[in-house]
Amino acid sequence: MVTILPVASGKGGVGKTVFTANLGVALAKAGKTVVLMDLDLGGSNLHTVLGVRNRHAGVGNLIYKQEEGLESLLVPTSQDRLFLIPGDALLPGTANLPYFRKQRIIKETSALVADFVILDLGSGTTYNTVDFFLTGSDGVIVCTPETTSILNAYSFIKTSVYRMLYRSFPKTSPERGMVQSFIEERIEGSDNSFDTLGQRLGEISEGAREIFHQCLQSFHPRVVLNMGREIEDLEIGRRLRTIARRNLGIEVNFIGYLPREELLTESIIKRQPVIELNPTGAFARSLTMISQRIINAPRGSEPKLHEDDEDIRELARSAQSM
Ligand SMILES: Nc1ncnc2c1ncn2[C@@H]1O[C@H](COP(=O)(O)OP(=O)(O)OP(=O)(O)O)[C@@H](O)[C@H]1O
Ligand SMILES: [Mg+2]
Repeated sequence: MVTILPVASGKGGVGKTVFTANLGVALAKAGKTVVLMDLDLGGSNLHTVLGVRNRHAGVGNLIYKQEEGLESLLVPTSQDRLFLIPGDALLPGTANLPYFRKQRIIKETSALVADFVILDLGSGTTYNTVDFFLTGSDGVIVCTPETTSILNAYSFIKTSVYRMLYRSFPKTSPERGMVQSFIEERIEGSDNSFDTLGQRLGEISEGAREIFHQCLQSFHPRVVLNMGREIEDLEIGRRLRTIARRNLGIEVNFIGYLPREELLTESIIKRQPVIELNPTGAFARSLTMISQRIINAPRGSEPKLHEDDEDIRELARSAQSM
């Protein structure tokens, strides 16, 4: 069965695409069949980092041209067992994709015959990104060892947790309504701490309280610190663990520390992933360790999430403002 590995970040330009491309190479070198999918809608550049020319149909074809399945979009790369599904201009970057369109991509992704499908997502906390991130329970968040990047990563985790809770309850259920009100800070007379949400859900039903705790316990985002300069960076990374644990009851799992790699610019000019260009460098060695951790990790269970009606609410909101 395929393992889906979404790669996201709170802040742009932290190295998601570089990480995705090089992790793909490392996993393929370890004998795994890997598909890299460019889901950075509107900002796709995974092909460039991989050294594949941009002349192939991309994931937008699945959606707008009724392509049979993702299989037909697979592009081979210079690495055996490593394939790319490019992004393309058919998909608008700014608008939220309606839920059923995302659902189609997610469904087709799970049907791919591969060991790993790695999703290179756009940055930030739009519902597009967060919903793709939630296709696996232990997606990867890339951040750099700077306070702003750590805080953005925390925001991303927080939005993902809220979104996961929201989608853990059926449409029109009072529980979903409660989560929604909490997010919109409408709960009166409360300090709106996250525990309060668990208590309020528990007041609706015992089952809801259980789902709340299960969600938090099963969600283990993995974190990669990229562009590190010195080992003290790890202290900054540790802050993310502390705030996620304290504020959300979430355990983040650090799976790697990638140093700065001076040859990255050259790797893009030469159309060769840096792990191939400089296989014995510190960056490549670190990435190989990350790939081993990913291969050896027990497979997380995917969150069981209900459909969303965000697209409908969005229509309602725009209709109101007309
Ligand atoms: N470890 C590293 N050492 C040096 N430069 C790096 C490293 N990782 C990424 N970069 C550089 O940082 C820039 C941003 O990287 P990348 O495009 O992978 O980020 P991203 O998170 O995918 O950005 P976006 O949010 O725009 O999709 C690129 O110029 C890349 O070459
Ligand atoms: Mg990118």
